[in-house]
Amino acid sequence: MPGLVRTVLDSTRGQFVADTLCSIAHQAGAANPNNEQLMRVLGDAATWLSDALGSSLALLDTETGEVLSREHDQPLHTWALHDQLARVVYERCTCEVLAEEEPLLLLAVPVPNQFGRPIVALGFFITSLAESYSQFSTAAKALGLDPDEALRWSADQSPWNVNILTKMGQLVVDRLQADLRATRAEHEVRHISSNLLASYEEISLLHRLTQNLKITSSNQELCQLALDWLSEVVPFEGLAVKLKPVADQTECHETLTEPLVLRHGDVPLPDDQFDSLIVQLGRAALDEPVVLNRLDQQESWPYESVRSVISVPLAEGNNIFGWLVGFNHRDDQEFGSVEASLLNSVGTILGIHSGNTDLYRQQADFLAGVVRALTSAIDAKDPYTCGHSDRVARVSVRLARELGCDGHILNTIYLSGLLHDIGKIGINDAVLAKPGKLTDAEFEHIKLHPELGYKILRDLKQLDQVLPVVLHHHEAINGTGYPHGLSGSEIPFLARIVAVADSFDAMSSDRPYRKGMEIERIEAILREGAGKQWDAQVVDTYFAVKADIAEIVSNERDSFQFNQEQWI
Ligand SMILES: [Fe+2]
Ligand SMILES: [Fe+2]
Repeated sequence: MPGLVRTVLDSTRGQFVADTLCSIAHQAGAANPNNEQLMRVLGDAATWLSDALGSSLALLDTETGEVLSREHDQPLHTWALHDQLARVVYERCTCEVLAEEEPLLLLAVPVPNQFGRPIVALGFFITSLAESYSQFSTAAKALGLDPDEALRWSADQSPWNVNILTKMGQLVVDRLQADLRATRAEHEVRHISSNLLASYEEISLLHRLTQNLKITSSNQELCQLALDWLSEVVPFEGLAVKLKPVADQTECHETLTEPLVLRHGDVPLPDDQFDSLIVQLGRAALDEPVVLNRLDQQESWPYESVRSVISVPLAEGNNIFGWLVGFNHRDDQEFGSVEASLLNSVGTILGIHSGNTDLYRQQADFLAGVVRALTSAIDAKDPYTCGHSDRVARVSVRLARELGCDGHILNTIYLSGLLHDIGKIGINDAVLAKPGKLTDAEFEHIKLHPELGYKILRDLKQLDQVLPVVLHHHEAINGTGYPHGLSGSEIPFLARIVAVADSFDAMSSDRPYRKGMEIERIEAILREGAGKQWDAQVVDTYFAVKADIAEIVSNERDSFQFNQEQWI
């Protein structure tokens, strides 16, 4: 009988087993990365088993019965016979003896893997040296082995203590499980990192957008910024915003009266085809996000250059202001929920901004209407001074501009000029229209108009900044004016400007009972009153721009473009 002696483990055996597995994977045409990864796991398992147990084991897929490795150190055997028992071992995830017949045993070592394949390593071991050929032969037959072939195999085997053998096997199982946990953790970290990066980019983009959500910033400007920034974050070949026209009743501010398409990158669609694209995307695209991929593979798709698309509406409540559309993945991949979610967030911000801009425009229109109504009321009340408020407004703007004012201040002084005499609505008609000199009582009655004007306007919050001018446009620099007798810098700066414009127009206008004064006389009065009646700096400014003012008062057309959007 051949001696059953322990042999020294060939230290290259593990590597050999792994190489064999790779070779099998290659033969199986393992182009699938999952297959390659599975083969790598099995290679590791085979190496560790070989190192721990001194023998290469058969790796059996207990579901298909397929043997995934060549068991060089094992006797010839039909391993699939044990698939059901081995499957139970896999599910328990413990190393177990499947069958034992002194001096032979069949060991099963589950191979946990991230692919969920129920693979178990199977191998025969000897537990003692056989006492006789007949004993060995009986045991081999009982375990389904050819006795002679098994005897030859056993000559190279060393006897194992069963406990030690199963513990060694379990160590390999534990190591495989730890490796699996590490792999899963690694995948999870990679997944979280990728999600975190996408979330960071999304939050960063939305933060940048909200920073630009100033109510006065134009909708088109914000949309163009959104397109530029989105292209940095999402791999679109092209991005576009289609804005619907906005109904407008006034000409006082910039309003979109025609549809507009804003673009970034390679947008494969002419402007006039956006509406039909949205229709083509289906009814849902009118008011919901839509993602479509592989469109070029659809026979009926009419836009040859549009391979994939994400469309989101710019909506606020039930109002749709347009659509944000991303075209074609730069790497020819499919768009998914990450890209759609980001576009939808941006679309929501743009929709809300469009809604606010629209609301703001309506408020601005309303304010303009109120101011027009009030100035019409003054003209109706005092037809002899018709156009006075308008001229005072325009002359005041010219003086203010020369004095270094701009933007919002010019709007304020323009409105102040239009409304400075609004209090005359509360003055007796007979006094207001009286030709000739007023009595002291009548003059005292007229002097009430600044405070009456203040009371009329004080509840209109949007006109807060006009109030000081309405109240103090008849104050004198030396404190002799009314209603409060303020002097010098106590008088609001804009009121000092309007005071000069007001007096200039009052002196130069024709009245039924007198002609307007000659310009030389007016200027002499202004010079005389500088520093007493009027602010000397404003009077000097009048002389610096007197030619412009002469043209302004002779021109009925409103040359100042009032921007009421800056006012609200
Ligand atoms: Fe006045
Ligand atoms: Fe006036």
